Amino acid sequence: MFFEKIEFAPADPILGLTEAFKKDENIDKINLSTGVYQDEFGNTPILKCVKEAEKLIYDKENSKSYLPITGLASFGTLTRELIFGKDSDLVNNQEAITCHCPGGTGALRVGADFIKQQNISTKIWISDPTWANHYQIVESAGLKFERFPYYDRKTRTLAFDKMMDTLSMANSGDVVLLHACCHNPTGIDPTYEQWCEIAKFLKEKKLLPFIDFAYQGFGLGLEEDAKGLRAIVDECKEVIIASSYSKNMGLYSERVGALTVVCQDKEQAKKVESQVKIAVRTSISNPPSHGELIVTTVLSDKNLRALWEEELYVMRTRIKDMRKLLATKLEASGAGNYNFILEQNGMFSFSGLTQAQVEALKEQFSIYIVGSGRICVACINENNVDKIVSAISSVINIEE
Ligand code: LMR
Repeated sequence: MFFEKIEFAPADPILGLTEAFKKDENIDKINLSTGVYQDEFGNTPILKCVKEAEKLIYDKENSKSYLPITGLASFGTLTRELIFGKDSDLVNNQEAITCHCPGGTGALRVGADFIKQQNISTKIWISDPTWANHYQIVESAGLKFERFPYYDRKTRTLAFDKMMDTLSMANSGDVVLLHACCHNPTGIDPTYEQWCEIAKFLKEKKLLPFIDFAYQGFGLGLEEDAKGLRAIVDECKEVIIASSYSKNMGLYSERVGALTVVCQDKEQAKKVESQVKIAVRTSISNPPSHGELIVTTVLSDKNLRALWEEELYVMRTRIKDMRKLLATKLEASGAGNYNFILEQNGMFSFSGLTQAQVEALKEQFSIYIVGSGRICVACINENNVDKIVSAISSVINIEE
């Protein structure tokens, strides 16, 4: 038999929890595992700007023929405007190429495949902790990874010096994977000054930055969240960026992400694009169109773009409000001081809960959070917060 040696794979550390949550029969169950935004009623809404764009697409679209391998040129231009700023030369000077990939994950994978296939490097440095899928993506592409310390669990801050010390052991030519904002899972980002230092360091050490930009607009704002990435691009001549519209446009199931590669000049960019096209063609052939049309319609229509920015602001603000509510209520319950939650950016809060406490939350209260102690604050609302707080205070003294 061909398949008899195959064993069960472990459940995915993030999406596997949502699978388990769906099977849980407890009517009081709460899912705070996957990074998906929910409104105050616990729904993941389709943004109004998206619905409006879909109406326009429905009326105008007259073919379902294939898209180009890299997606529509306008998608690339609009994506670069968001990433680099609308006045940046990189939007139109053809030194940066952009390719529509299925979600931020797809962009990371195509980027990793491109690195491997072109023998650009064999090793990627990844923050510890990081998004659990990073390790698998890099390994599936045939690359090796090493970890650099990122988070100081005692002070609950960025372990900047340790991070730089460890990265100084990297060999020139290695790749460094960084989260541009809303670091997943810690929510702790470098300051602008630290970004500038990182940028200079990467340039001097001849390390290739590979930037995961999945949460633009969920931290401080669309422009503010791009500042660190732009500091890197200003210093380093070559940069790879994986960005995503899953979160900021709520297009999770449409799988709209982008791989953008900044090159030293136009001629190099053409060659890079031709090779990225091979990486895409051999994995997904060419991208799906519906989500891409939504993004290009929203970003190119003045009114829809303004509506999107308002809706993004509402999501970002609601998450911040929920951070405050959670921290205040936890403190009032006697579970300790949780003000550090207010310092974190994006959808997640790195709670400090241990693996045993996380397990107890699931077993005793049907509250699902990621094993690292990462809570999706974007799934907290006025109706579930008290249950969450009371459950956390009951498990907080459980020891490993
Ligand atoms: C997360 O970290 O929860 C999200 O990025 C969803 C995912 O694919 O893991």
